[in-house]
Amino acid sequence: MIEPRVIIGRDEIKQAVIRLARQIAHDYRGKEPLIVGILKGSCIFLGDIIREINIPLEIEFVRLASYSGKLSTGKVKIVQSLNSPIQGRDILIVEDIVDTGLSVSVLLKYLKRKTPASVKLCVLLDKPSRRTIPVTIDYLGFTVPDKFIVGYGIDWNEKYRYLPDIAAID
Ligand code: IMP
Ligand code: MG
Repeated sequence: MIEPRVIIGRDEIKQAVIRLARQIAHDYRGKEPLIVGILKGSCIFLGDIIREINIPLEIEFVRLASYSGKLSTGKVKIVQSLNSPIQGRDILIVEDIVDTGLSVSVLLKYLKRKTPASVKLCVLLDKPSRRTIPVTIDYLGFTVPDKFIVGYGIDWNEKYRYLPDIAAID
């Protein structure tokens, strides 16, 4: 078993979660946002952050699948969509990592077609070095180097999601 090396500890994660939750609560006061988590990677981050956002909100989940070909231009498909209508709603997407930017840009385009009042993006980790599609991250936890990250919900072949810290596999 490979031993992941901790790069962001649980205390630092908690502080970031509180910082983001305060910003979100401030920006969405009086709005009752719909938080849309991307499965499965965002599950722990989402579970933590919604308990720190002290305003009424609702949650939904979507599931994406990516099919990467020989080139890095993989295709992303929405394999589990929303159960409720989002027209006129204030949507906040919660994602674990933005890497190339493809996943969130596909989801953003899909959600915007359903004419919500607003769509913003809350991301735990940004890996800007591999970005191919520009993405505006409204609420960001940390910027990380181009390493393979696991822990705090994030997996390597479904392993390591349970780790309480964010770690890198060298
Ligand atoms: P993107 O579409 O290239 O931006 O990739 C985003 C998705 O790839 C995230 O939702 C993650 O599931 C996955 N991903 C990207 N980087 C990592 C990593 O370092 N560890 C685990 N998953 C990753
Ligand atoms: Mg993911």
